[in-house]
Amino acid sequence: MRRAGGNDAKEGKKPWKHGSNGKIQKVSEQLQEQRRNLPIAKGADALIREIKSNDTLVLLGETGSGKTTQVPQYILESGVLGSGMIAVTQPRRVAATSLAARVAAEQGCSVGDRVGYAVRFQEAYGPETKIKFLTDGMLARELLADPLLSKYSVIILDEAHERTLNTDLLMASLKGIQEARKGNTKVPHSGKGKERADNSSCGALKVIIMSATLDAEKFSRFFGNAKIIYVKGRQHPVKIYHTVTGQNDFVDAALRTFFQIHVDQPPGDVLIFLPGQEDIESLEKSISSYASQLPLGKSRVVVCPFYASMPQDKQNKVFSPTTNGQRKCILSTNIAETSITIPGVRYVIDTGVHKEKRHLAGVSGSGFNTLLVCAISKSSAMQRAGRAGREGPGFCYRLYPESAFRDLPDTSEPEIMRCSLASATLRLKCLQRDFFDLELLDKPDGSAINAGMKTLWMLGALDTEGNLTPTGRAMSLFPVEPQQSRALLESRIHGCTREVLAIVAIQSASSKVFYDPGSGSAADSNEPGSRDIERRDQAQAARAKFIHISGDHMTLLNVFRAYEDLLKSSGGDSKSAKAERRDWCNRHFLHERALTEALDIQTQLRRICDTMRGREASFGLSDPNIELDWRSSVAEGPGSTVEAEKVLKCLMTGLVQHGALRSAERGYCPIMDKSKTIKIHPSSTLAGKKFDAIMYDELLFTNSGSTYARCVSAIPTSIISDLSAYRPRST
Ligand code: CDP
Ligand code: MG
Repeated sequence: MRRAGGNDAKEGKKPWKHGSNGKIQKVSEQLQEQRRNLPIAKGADALIREIKSNDTLVLLGETGSGKTTQVPQYILESGVLGSGMIAVTQPRRVAATSLAARVAAEQGCSVGDRVGYAVRFQEAYGPETKIKFLTDGMLARELLADPLLSKYSVIILDEAHERTLNTDLLMASLKGIQEARKGNTKVPHSGKGKERADNSSCGALKVIIMSATLDAEKFSRFFGNAKIIYVKGRQHPVKIYHTVTGQNDFVDAALRTFFQIHVDQPPGDVLIFLPGQEDIESLEKSISSYASQLPLGKSRVVVCPFYASMPQDKQNKVFSPTTNGQRKCILSTNIAETSITIPGVRYVIDTGVHKEKRHLAGVSGSGFNTLLVCAISKSSAMQRAGRAGREGPGFCYRLYPESAFRDLPDTSEPEIMRCSLASATLRLKCLQRDFFDLELLDKPDGSAINAGMKTLWMLGALDTEGNLTPTGRAMSLFPVEPQQSRALLESRIHGCTREVLAIVAIQSASSKVFYDPGSGSAADSNEPGSRDIERRDQAQAARAKFIHISGDHMTLLNVFRAYEDLLKSSGGDSKSAKAERRDWCNRHFLHERALTEALDIQTQLRRICDTMRGREASFGLSDPNIELDWRSSVAEGPGSTVEAEKVLKCLMTGLVQHGALRSAERGYCPIMDKSKTIKIHPSSTLAGKKFDAIMYDELLFTNSGSTYARCVSAIPTSIISDLSAYRPRST
């Protein structure tokens, strides 16, 4: 993965770096003053004493009290750390990068120096780094290479109340690691099956669990009644309004509510919670367009979108205060609920929904997650309202009736209880563990655990006894979904690694490559959108030249290649070259950032392929009958049917559970559950067409009861009947 420096470090640098010395002094003094005034500051000394005398602490405090930004710095400044590092985990990448930027600014260093971060496919840290913000998924991956997490002296699991799968798994692992590092037990060493002789050489490990809600006791009990520390926050009263009836179109309701506030209410910024990037982009457009029609003096609205894949350079806008009486309107996903506090907010508009990762019920055991728009919990609704009362009395407008609030569940179900366990099982197997023997806060039931194992078995990653196979170990080296790493491994047999890499890279980018003008939709965001159908048609026409007859996967490859060609013809960093590329992307309704990110991801995945090249034997992957080729492209060249067939064959080894056959009477029936019927999503290039067999990346389950396949390719039926042939070879 990428090391410190490069653009990331630069992007994270303080804006005042280029200013005069006097200005630097002033900004830095301001920051220090803000630090001293945070609610947590008063208890800093006592907190450090507790950290010194306890191995594990649970720290509970209201959002904005200073837990995430201050505790790592207090620890650093107190000298408890020794030669080790502090890891601070976050469920979301944008939180990790943006908090690293803030803490680096407070420390007066650049991101990547004393303070750094690591999120998937993007890192900024170096030998100097002492405080590292990282996603919980990244720390879980670090466990594979270093099962004792020996680099770290302190690990802070932040936002534990969110109960992500990775945070839950880390909690389970950390307990064992603490014991092992005290020398009490042994932790099996990854990969080689050896036991570490000296577990205690890296010293004791301190663990701090941080949470913004009142679930501390459960965490404390899990860690043998660990001490709980409460930080008192500042919270002003928030007046809450509900709508009289439910709203069909929350984007439209949010738009109207915003302008009511903007026109009638005194100054103060507005924070609107929306489920995802599409709704955010759609509302951003409407607000900007209506604002420009307001009479002069009322039109001063600054719209700031804020979501997981926000480019870093745009994040600053969210935090900087507005001038000249402008009103800032922040359109955010859950990220602003507890992870990130945005100053200046006085009004909150709560749509009452968020996106939740779910393992689709109904198509049993098919081993994948999908994001669904779901109602939030009471706890989330209260956190959202709380964001209005950070700096003074505030107002929260819920776009749902009070009765609906009362019907909400108290808290969200932990992710571990509702999502596919395949990827996590593969990692656990590499550490010679599995879900059955793990002590967890909440344990998924046996059928979910078995479904995860079955997926891995179908991918050839586990044998019939549930033991890790060489294929499984090789798959675990790639930081992508098992379905994707399986396809990558298969590609070396068919000589189309370059093509499969490109497709996997584009799918792993943090935002989608296709910009769909009409995708922000109403109350049921899972339903294919109804807005802006005209603009959507326009987008489809502009992208027609990329369409590959076989469907969406090869179409993605064509887009990737077209962008690569463009880079060759108008490469370089000159203003005009950049403008040309931007213009090309706009004309084709493509997100350029997704493409540049995909190029970068491709390079990183390529490196992993290269390290395995020629070492197949050490993975037990060599086969004298098959010529392995990690590098080359399909000899017949781009666009040939041979090429498409080979690439799709590889992808299908990963998507073994995602095939469907068409029956004349019922349409497409998934091979894993033939009693169901699915449709091709309207966003697919194959929408409305009929084929004997298809494969798809994911199913989307709409609230009205339909199931749509997204990212679809037509495949020869023979590929599906061939699939069982893949397994024996790899076990
Ligand atoms: O973790 P917790 O919610 O307790 O608070 P925090 O994230 O440490 O934030 C402490 C303070 O820093 C808040 O008042 C934020 O407004 C401020 N902050 C900021 O102004 N800009 C950032 N990029 C991050 C935090
Ligand atoms: Mg925090």
